[in-house]
Amino acid sequence: MFNPKTIRSDFPIFTHNPLGERLVYLDSAATSQKPQVVLDAILQYYQTTNANVHRGVHQLSDKSTQTWDDSRATIANFFDAKTDELIITRNTTEAINGVAYGWGEHNLSEGDVIVATLMEHHANIVCWQELARRTGARLEFVTLAKDGRLNQKSLRENLSLPKVKLLALTHVSNTLGTLNPIAEIIAEARALQPNIRVLIDAAQSAPHIPVSFTKLDADFLVFSGHKMLGPMGIGGVFVRSTLLQSNQMRPWLFGGGMIAAVTTTATTFTDEVSERFTAGTPDVASAVGLATACKYLSKLHMQDVGQRDLELVLYALEKLGEVPEIEIIGPQDFASSEVDRVGSVAFIYKGMHAHDVAQVLDSVGVAVRSGHHCTMPLHQQFGWAASVRASFNVYNTKQDVDALVAGLNKVRQVFNR
Ligand code: ALA
Repeated sequence: MFNPKTIRSDFPIFTHNPLGERLVYLDSAATSQKPQVVLDAILQYYQTTNANVHRGVHQLSDKSTQTWDDSRATIANFFDAKTDELIITRNTTEAINGVAYGWGEHNLSEGDVIVATLMEHHANIVCWQELARRTGARLEFVTLAKDGRLNQKSLRENLSLPKVKLLALTHVSNTLGTLNPIAEIIAEARALQPNIRVLIDAAQSAPHIPVSFTKLDADFLVFSGHKMLGPMGIGGVFVRSTLLQSNQMRPWLFGGGMIAAVTTTATTFTDEVSERFTAGTPDVASAVGLATACKYLSKLHMQDVGQRDLELVLYALEKLGEVPEIEIIGPQDFASSEVDRVGSVAFIYKGMHAHDVAQVLDSVGVAVRSGHHCTMPLHQQFGWAASVRASFNVYNTKQDVDALVAGLNKVRQVFNR
């Protein structure tokens, strides 16, 4: 098992903190910090390998193409998927848009139903609203129970509607921390709707727990590199092979690099997934950075990463539970050892706006996210204007949680409540 205290020294932001004090970074659900090895790998790519891929016969282009292919293979391997199931995008949002344009536009029509849940972040809502507008499909929402878990009755009712074509569901809620039992939900969805497609948003789970695309039986799985120690600007979507082979999932970006042949009147696309879905010059350096992040996490062992996260989440629930002014949101009561909460603890500070709380916390070096966290429908269901979220990654320690709690004492002093 790794030690988060030593891990911290792998991340230069903690030693070069521009704010000049011990940085307590509790905003990793928004974006994680990057270890030095990731930064080095990106620099080294530009210093030693930079050339366009699939373009030249010269040696450097070959080397760059090999690096791109190797990086894709490493990323796919991290998700226990095949390399030719991976389409690289800039982030989760672009990946969901890609599914909406590349699959949804060709497979949904008037009267079809898309089921999402009220715990989705905006990308997993807005893309479907727009797709519904373009195709005449309808978007329905599974509601949430008071404890921040999915309302099972609502889930079953929505999945039983006629003509449900897609379930779009997050693995872990970015606001509530809820870990959804996605394997069971996918099985239930397929039993109720044999032709359903399922998209799993793994943006908030992949940084913390093992995620296997192969074992999951999902049709699409989306993720962001920057939340899992990689650089910004790279993420992806894993797509079930048969959807790619049968052309049910089609390219949605067009241009050079993805073609087999072009004439002035028609174009055919290459069969190679890595090329067919990569129009234009790809961000090879970011792929190298993300592949390095995947190797870094794998070296820590994702089971251990999950165990550390669990300890920190439970510690935060305990310590924050002792602060009388706050109401913790999301799952807190757990059956036996089954803790269905990952990565974060969010709360409402009674009588105060979340931004005021976050500002005082920032003044003592504690960085948290405040606001609606791109989950306005979730906040609306519960009648919350905003919330404060502390989110974790491998470099966080119990000391960080203690600093958060001490910061909340400062909030009490500053606002005299
Ligand atoms: N979805 C990201 C977050 O939760 C941006 O902060």
